[in-house]
Amino acid sequence: MEKLVIHGGNRLSGEVEISGAKNAAVAIIPATLLAQDVCRIENIPNISDVSCMIRILSQMGAQIRYINKHTIEINTKTVNSYIVPHEMTKQLRASYYLIGALLGRYSRAKVALPGGCNFGVRPIDLHIKGFELLGATATVENAMINAAADHLTGSPIYMDKVSVGATINVMLAAVKARGLTIIENAAKEPHIVDLANFLNAMGADVRGAGTDVIKIHGVSNLHGCTYAIIPDQIEAGTYMVAAAATGGDVLVKNVIPKHLESITAKLLECGVSVTEYDDSVRVQSDGKFKKINLKTMPHPGFPTDMQPQMAVLLSVADGTSLVSEGVWDNRFKYIDQLVRMGAKVQVDGTMAVFEGVEELTGAPVKADDLRAGAAMIIAGLMARGTTEVEDIIYIDRGYEDYVEKLRNMGADIYRKEILQQNDVESVG
Ligand code: UD1
Repeated sequence: MEKLVIHGGNRLSGEVEISGAKNAAVAIIPATLLAQDVCRIENIPNISDVSCMIRILSQMGAQIRYINKHTIEINTKTVNSYIVPHEMTKQLRASYYLIGALLGRYSRAKVALPGGCNFGVRPIDLHIKGFELLGATATVENAMINAAADHLTGSPIYMDKVSVGATINVMLAAVKARGLTIIENAAKEPHIVDLANFLNAMGADVRGAGTDVIKIHGVSNLHGCTYAIIPDQIEAGTYMVAAAATGGDVLVKNVIPKHLESITAKLLECGVSVTEYDDSVRVQSDGKFKKINLKTMPHPGFPTDMQPQMAVLLSVADGTSLVSEGVWDNRFKYIDQLVRMGAKVQVDGTMAVFEGVEELTGAPVKADDLRAGAAMIIAGLMARGTTEVEDIIYIDRGYEDYVEKLRNMGADIYRKEILQQNDVESVG
């Protein structure tokens, strides 16, 4: 096991190249189950959630060929089962996309309930409602979701709540259903559009992705294709905030600036300079921040997956900032860690009040989940003294080569092996 050691205080400067989007990749990889021949996917991020999804497909019998670090070819013709046991799904929330993809392919799926980041209850009732409206029966027994239909039939589906996962799962199940599916109140995140583009590249007929009404005309066959995944909006946002938080000057490259607008807007409000170019943004900061209020919302609102990182910056803003979490019930767990570093925060349900302090001080902390871990890194980079971050396995799930990328920008950060109890005994 490893931890991170961060000596804070260095300004980040230079450039950082953003990798492919995690949340698009973990939807597009299972979507290859719908194709009849080889899909070549480019700009795949080299992170553990993606390796985990690729390993699951491989265990299901798919043939996977790595062309290089960021390009794979997947042939799912050799898959011959619609059952995915707990051992495969437990590490990865997005394993639930296998339900939609297998239903789309076989009209049957038996998939163990997923693992992943724990920020409160994460229901899947909307996914199940969507499958049922497409004509499947769906039950949960022994922690497995069992969905089956003679054949799926297109249907109007109104999402009671905007859900990224349910929108994607219904898209996967509906692309080969008979007739027209209309998803209303659909999620609009960039990775929904990316998945729709991928499905269309395979011959699907998906229209309206990126708006709240998605129309899917079912087709009988999907073919292989070559497709490049979009850049990761949250990885980009994380480096933008890290650059700002350290009073730095960083060019964040290989991004779609439009996807970053809500993050850019909040940084500007804090007094940070953000300049947009065609496929990069430059962030410049003097390390002084104005207080702001922030509410997370589904896209195009401020992303919940950027809330912990931005909150770290607000912990040293000039005045009192209000952070309201509008997507998840329990996404402030990381604040206990931040308070250990000197932040002054009061949490009341889904609202946190940050009273800006002069500076943070280094401390031993842990990553409670993926984005909480990213927030701890930013806190460590800003803090006076040394911060050690444990449980970094969460961060490895979603950020490619982050230690190297940060070191290239001047951060003093490295991985260190954690001595286990046995090691301590043998040493001493
Ligand atoms: C995805 C992202 C996650 C991000 C979240 C919101 C992936 C792999 N994960 O998660 O990083 O934080 O979107 O942007 O892409 N809900 C229900 N019933 C359901 C499904 C969801 O009530 O059946 C609720 C959830 O409890 C939550 C809200 O809807 O309050 C949004 O969840 P959803 O958009 O589905 O999140 P995920 O797809 O799980």
